[in-house]
Amino acid sequence: MSRLPLVDGVLTYIKEKNVPFCMPGHKGGLGFLKTAKGRELYENFIKGDITEVDGLDNLHHAEGIIKESQQLLSSYYGSIKSYFLVNGSTSGNFTMVFSTFNEGDKIIVERNCHRSIFNAIIMRKLKPVYIKNKINSKYDVPFPFDKESFLYLIHENKDAKGIIITYPNYYGICLDLPYIIATAKKYNIKVLVDAAHGAHFGANKLLPENPLKMGANMVVMSAHKTLPSLTQTAFLHVGEDIDISKVDFYVSAFLSTSPSYMFLCSMDYARFYIEEYGENDYEELIKICKFNRVKINKLDKFHILGQEDLEDVSGNSIKYINKYTLDLTRYILNVPKGYSGHKLLEYLRINKIQAEMSDSRNVVLIFSPFTKQQDFEKLYLALKDCDMESLKEQYVQIIDYDIPSQSMFPYEVMFREKTIVELKNSEGEICAEAIVPYPPGIPIVMPGERLDEYNIAMIIYYLKYNVTVLGVNDGKVAIVK
Ligand SMILES: Cc1ncc(COP(=O)(O)O)c(C=O)c1O
Repeated sequence: MSRLPLVDGVLTYIKEKNVPFCMPGHKGGLGFLKTAKGRELYENFIKGDITEVDGLDNLHHAEGIIKESQQLLSSYYGSIKSYFLVNGSTSGNFTMVFSTFNEGDKIIVERNCHRSIFNAIIMRKLKPVYIKNKINSKYDVPFPFDKESFLYLIHENKDAKGIIITYPNYYGICLDLPYIIATAKKYNIKVLVDAAHGAHFGANKLLPENPLKMGANMVVMSAHKTLPSLTQTAFLHVGEDIDISKVDFYVSAFLSTSPSYMFLCSMDYARFYIEEYGENDYEELIKICKFNRVKINKLDKFHILGQEDLEDVSGNSIKYINKYTLDLTRYILNVPKGYSGHKLLEYLRINKIQAEMSDSRNVVLIFSPFTKQQDFEKLYLALKDCDMESLKEQYVQIIDYDIPSQSMFPYEVMFREKTIVELKNSEGEICAEAIVPYPPGIPIVMPGERLDEYNIAMIIYYLKYNVTVLGVNDGKVAIVK
């Protein structure tokens, strides 16, 4: 008989019954079982896998139940218009970029934006100016950018048409968005927000605020990352000063013409859930998160970061104090220097706890209102029993970096012939593929930037300590011919 490797792999994973401290937000279906309507949907999902038959509207020309559902979405989040996306936040980021900018526009973007943003920048032939992300050297956590770099860049690039912000980052850290938006508006620069990890923001006052309420021009949110919705679902919200007809066109262009009704229904349900239960349930969740954080920190083995750990890391003058905030519904579980975050993630997995991701010194855990106190108990016991000796690893300091000079725009690199050379012989060449050490996941060199003595030494440093460096294979890198 033929094999079913994928099916068997997933079924085995299900049987393991790991505690899901990771996406999706419904936590193994519990988010649907919470309400009578959700239960009915859960029990009928497969039967709900239908096509656009009479009476069930058309996502690409919504006039009936899909339109009504999207209006409810828009009114909950406070947008001018909102869309259901069946191709993830990836399609939302593409739509934001294509409907806001024209070929050749200059934009400001974070150095470690999600790759869907970077791919859209290439395909829309934009001219990016990168803004440096900060690194918190105490915990080796990548932070958003700081105000001083932002003010400098915006001042130097008054002709930029927009800025794309990640809010929050993967670790749940948010920058001072009202400040960024207010400043960008003074320069007539549009603010697009990739809030893939923030679909729950604004549901309760203890959470960071929803970016639309702060005046963002467009916002993308992954429904599946934190809410009870199926994987691959996302929302796109349009704020002020955006041409809706262009958005209509690009949404349709980037979405499948056979949208899954299971996806659509789950998004309608996620909006219903957050609107009806969000405020209370997030209050409860944050209380549990805080309680267990104190307990785990008292073990004196690990440190879960709190708001007090997000003090300004810029070291700059008082004028530019950075106000970072933390999404309290996720943990950045930090190990001391000389221990490994990756090994801790593996240890937790063996103990039936599935974390979201790890880097050299941190494990990120994502909770939702369907995470219960008994799940936290399991985490606590596993951490209490953890033999720290087994997590030992040589400490590799994450180094701050300077952005290299840009000789070509990323889209221009796409049209050029490339060749592979030894990294050590690449000084002065134009890089053809992003070179990104993990951690911190912030590119050292981007396509179109020049390899120089400084960044080559930095890459060699990471390789020496066995850090994974994307874009370097067998000591070789791709350059423009
Ligand atoms: C910040 C950010 N933006 C966009 C995306 C893309 O989301 P999706 O995979 O749902 O398309 C991700 C995915 O992890 C992300 O982390």
